[in-house]
Amino acid sequence: MRFSGKTAIVTGGGSGIGRAAAIRFAQEGAAVAVADVDSLGGEETVSIIENAGGKAIFVKTDVADSNQIKELISTTTNTFGSLNIMFNNAGIGNSEVRSTDLSEDEWDKVVDINLKGVFLGIKYAVPELIKAGGGAIVNTASLLGLKGQKYMSAYNASKGGVVILTKNAALEYGKKNIRVNAIAPGVIDTKIIENWRQSEWKWPIISKANALGRIGSPEEVANAVLFLASDEASFITGATLSVDGGGLTF
Ligand SMILES: NC(=O)c1ccc[n+]([C@@H]2O[C@H](COP(=O)([O-])OP(=O)(O)OC[C@H]3O[C@@H](n4cnc5c(N)ncnc54)[C@H](O)[C@@H]3O)[C@@H](O)[C@H]2O)c1
Repeated sequence: MRFSGKTAIVTGGGSGIGRAAAIRFAQEGAAVAVADVDSLGGEETVSIIENAGGKAIFVKTDVADSNQIKELISTTTNTFGSLNIMFNNAGIGNSEVRSTDLSEDEWDKVVDINLKGVFLGIKYAVPELIKAGGGAIVNTASLLGLKGQKYMSAYNASKGGVVILTKNAALEYGKKNIRVNAIAPGVIDTKIIENWRQSEWKWPIISKANALGRIGSPEEVANAVLFLASDEASFITGATLSVDGGGLTF
C-alpha cells in the first residue's frame, strides 16, 4: 500500500473527484480527513471509507475561510498525528455569461473558493508538512486553467491562477522536501457539469471534445492525484498534469 502510515487531507471530499481521491487514498492505507462545506456528502464519503475498513474523519470546512482551514489542519493532526498530503480540490463553476454581465460578487466567490482556497490550503498545510519531514501537495486546476473558454472568465482566471501558484509553491518549498503539483481535468462525470449535461445542444459537443471522444470518471482523475502524491512522482514538482482525454490537444 502506497500510503500506509500517511495522513491526507482532501478538500471537496464530499463529492466527485474529491470523494474518489479520498476513497483511493484510504484504500492505499492513508488516514483521510475529508473536508467539505456539504456535511451530508462529506459524512457519506467517510462512511464509504469506514465500511471498507479504512480510516477517515469529516471536518466541515469552507476553504475560503482561513480560520476554518486552520481548524481543519489542527483537527487532522490532532486526530492522526501528522499531515503528509494536502489535496486542495474544492471548487465551483460560474454562471456562463460574458464578463460584462458577471457580477462582482460572483467573481469574488469563485476566486475566493477556487484560488484563495488553494492558497490557504498551501499556507496552513506547509508548516505541518515541514514538521513531518516533507510531503506532497496536489491542487485541482482545470483544462480551463490552461485554455480560455467564452463565458467562463472567473473560473478560467481562478484555475489559471492555480497553475501558476502551484509553480510558485513548488519553488518556495522544494528544498523543504515538499512537492507541489496540479491536475488539470477535462470534462469529468461529477455534479459540477450538471448544467452542461442538461443542455441538449451543448452536451453532445462538450462530452466528446477530446481525443478519446468521451468524458472521464472521477476515479480516473483520482488515480493521477495518487500518482502525484506518491513517491513514484519523487522528481516531479511544479507540474500540471492534464487528465482530460486529450482535451487540450483537441
Ligand atoms: N468535473 C469536471 O469536469 C471538472 C473539470 C475540471 C476541474 N474540475 C475541478 O475539480 C474539482 C472538484 O470538482 P468536482 O468535479 O468533483 O465537482 P463536485 O461538485 O462533484 O465536487 C466539488 C465539491 O467541492 C465542495 N465545495 C464547494 N465549495 C466549497 C468550499 N467553499 N469549501 C469546501 N468545499 C467546497 C462541494 O460541496 C463538492 O462536494 C473542482 O475544483 C473543479 O473545479 C472539475
